[in-house]
Amino acid sequence: MGNWFDSVRGLWSKAARRCSQYFLETPGKRWASAALLVFSIVLLTSSFIYWTDVRAITGTFFFKTSTSSSRTPPNKPPVKVEYPLKCINEALTLTCPANYPVNYESKASTWAVACPEYFRWIREDLRPWRDTGITRQMVERGNKYGDLRLVIVKGKAYVKMYRKAFQTRDVFTVWGILQLLRLYPGKVPDLELLFACGDRPVIKKRDYHATYAPPVFHYCVDDESLDIPFPDWSFWGWGEINIRPWGTMLWGLREANKRIRWKDRKPYAFWKGNPSTSGRRADLMKCNVSGEQDWNARVYAQDWQKETEQGFKQSHLEDQCTHRYKIFIEGVAWSVSDKYILGCDSMTLLVKPKYFDFFTRSLVAKQHYWPISPSNLCRDIKSAVEWGNNNTNKAQAIGEAASKFIQEDLKMEFVYDYTYHLLREYAKLMRFTPTIPPGAVEVCSETMACPQNGPWRQFMMESMVMSPKDTLPCTMPSSSSSSP
Ligand SMILES: *[C@@H]1O[C@H](CO)[C@@H](O)[C@H](O)[C@H]1NC(C)=O
Ligand SMILES: *[C@@H]1O[C@H](CO)[C@@H](O)[C@H](O)[C@H]1NC(C)=O
Repeated sequence: MGNWFDSVRGLWSKAARRCSQYFLETPGKRWASAALLVFSIVLLTSSFIYWTDVRAITGTFFFKTSTSSSRTPPNKPPVKVEYPLKCINEALTLTCPANYPVNYESKASTWAVACPEYFRWIREDLRPWRDTGITRQMVERGNKYGDLRLVIVKGKAYVKMYRKAFQTRDVFTVWGILQLLRLYPGKVPDLELLFACGDRPVIKKRDYHATYAPPVFHYCVDDESLDIPFPDWSFWGWGEINIRPWGTMLWGLREANKRIRWKDRKPYAFWKGNPSTSGRRADLMKCNVSGEQDWNARVYAQDWQKETEQGFKQSHLEDQCTHRYKIFIEGVAWSVSDKYILGCDSMTLLVKPKYFDFFTRSLVAKQHYWPISPSNLCRDIKSAVEWGNNNTNKAQAIGEAASKFIQEDLKMEFVYDYTYHLLREYAKLMRFTPTIPPGAVEVCSETMACPQNGPWRQFMMESMVMSPKDTLPCTMPSSSSSSP
């Protein structure tokens, strides 16, 4: 790459030297030199603007080369592009287009599909504020927990940062909300909310009388906390470890499942990851096959440092659907890996989790996964694999049920609908008028994507919503049926 670039540059400068010599040594033609200069500037500028636009629309100008064709989904049917990304100057797009669409009349019929069952958790998660509503005092009390405050006023989004989150979690979380605004312009209500981007839940039940707790959005929750689960950043991409947006990954998983059929997969339980994030994972390493013991587990520790240097090129998650059984085990808290493991068609051996994200609470033991007790880890894995190999049809059916859940109920469309309904239900509880706080900046796809490069830019282009949705959001399960 470097050599190629240098030689092209060499050729250009040689040609440029010849040209300028010719014109400068011919005094009568000095005017031509000036004209040529002006002409080149015009040409360069217009081609730059052209390419910027083309890249914005296709999202593939620089990135085609970096992803091999086998990992690129087949050409989608041409999508209507109503929102081209307009980067005026890559690094300096700091203002949002003035004519940003904030309203859109859906031309489609009023027909809508029913939301998946896990949407009922939206009301459960907001239950602590059901009777009191959410007051400004409650939100302000959450300031010390939130990494950022997101404000939506008249369809525009504003962010006030309190502290920088790990890697680009905050960036891609906000990006996701911006895409929701593009998908349903004019439908997302005005609101003000706090978001915590760490691993563990932050609002402990024991610290607050439930009804006065600050409402804080976060990626997961456990029995002892009141955080409001929201889809994590990886649905829009995790640039640092090369995990592409969920829409692309779903396609990759479907392809992977076609490549190796269940019965042709290795009849063992597979796990690969960073073992140093929790004691449980360290315990799992002890279940690995060794000279004297075979617990039917094949576990691999990822060399995080080495992989980071190589851009995680050896760790494509869709290439890990090679075993009949896959182990899911939590890290520091919940792990974004759950959806990639469950989507593999393999039977998931789920080590009993403590933390839940927005969809995992609706998974059913022995229907979507096989439960494993953390206190009996190696033995449980061994007998689960044995059971599966004795009952291949049943084990395969459990694997397929999980994949079906992932492919159908967790497709990007429903991820957006979940965030849409969650934000709406939250806004309904608000007892104050959202205002743009001092120090907040307006954010839009332009201010976020234009200055990005590398995988971050690629993933934003890949996950960008190109036009408003023509159909209505799915309809929530009615509250009467979900009340206990
Ligand atoms: C587990 O065993 C396999 C096969 O012997 C080996 O390749 C792998 O590195 C082991 N994993 C760990 C974490 O030691
Ligand atoms: C699997 O089948 C073998 C042989 O029939 C039997 O010994 C073993 O107990 C079975 N294991 C389980 C977990 O069903």
